[in-house]
Amino acid sequence: MSKFVIGEPRHHGLKGRFIVIEGPDGAGKSTQVRRLKDRLGERAPQVEICATAEPWMSYWGKEIRQKAARGERMSPEAEMYTFLADRQEHLDQLILPSLKAGDLVLTDRYYLSSVVYQGVKGFDPVRVRRLNERFVPRPDLTLLLCLQPEEAWARVQRRGGMQDAFHKKETVEDVARAYLELDCASISRVMVDGMSVEQVTDELWTRMTQRWPDLNGLEVK
Ligand code: TMP
Repeated sequence: MSKFVIGEPRHHGLKGRFIVIEGPDGAGKSTQVRRLKDRLGERAPQVEICATAEPWMSYWGKEIRQKAARGERMSPEAEMYTFLADRQEHLDQLILPSLKAGDLVLTDRYYLSSVVYQGVKGFDPVRVRRLNERFVPRPDLTLLLCLQPEEAWARVQRRGGMQDAFHKKETVEDVARAYLELDCASISRVMVDGMSVEQVTDELWTRMTQRWPDLNGLEVK
């Protein structure tokens, strides 16, 4: 069995809804988070939305982004723990308070990014998952945008920008492959090759509203 087929941590158990958008570079996660936030604002104005992303903006998250932008490397071990520290702060300072308040949290990446990326960089994905499970709550829904590896690389190249350690051809393709293998109960997978941005939003919206009809402005009995 693939090392990327995994169990999950305990559910957060709070009033709010916790939705994660995951996937490889080039899948269009941040665009979709923006578009879903807008659509939620139009169709479910009664719901408070918290749209966020990892790496987050804690001291640790900023360190990760600054180092990547300057082309500096951390050791893989230090990098993994830095992602964990950032995630802990993200949970403590933003995600959990928002869920307690009953908000809908929509995050671009969460702990499965560590399982995949740090897994691809040589860590045992099972070990990465266990380290995360000590403190991460399980989301209600993980919308996983998947791409064939060649398509992921083609999109990263088209996008241009940073050619840092995260964006080498082999890494991008291995990551896309690992996401194709990745499986656990909260995952709802969408293959986005060949789909337009609008089609992807519609598909994600369908999956969210199947789960929570009230988001479509419908009365819940
Ligand atoms: P971004 O490109 O989505 O802003 O994310 C920055 C990079 O950080 C991306 O290539 C994936 C990587 N990453 C990890 O390696 N581990 C993690 O836990 C997270 C959240 C991101």
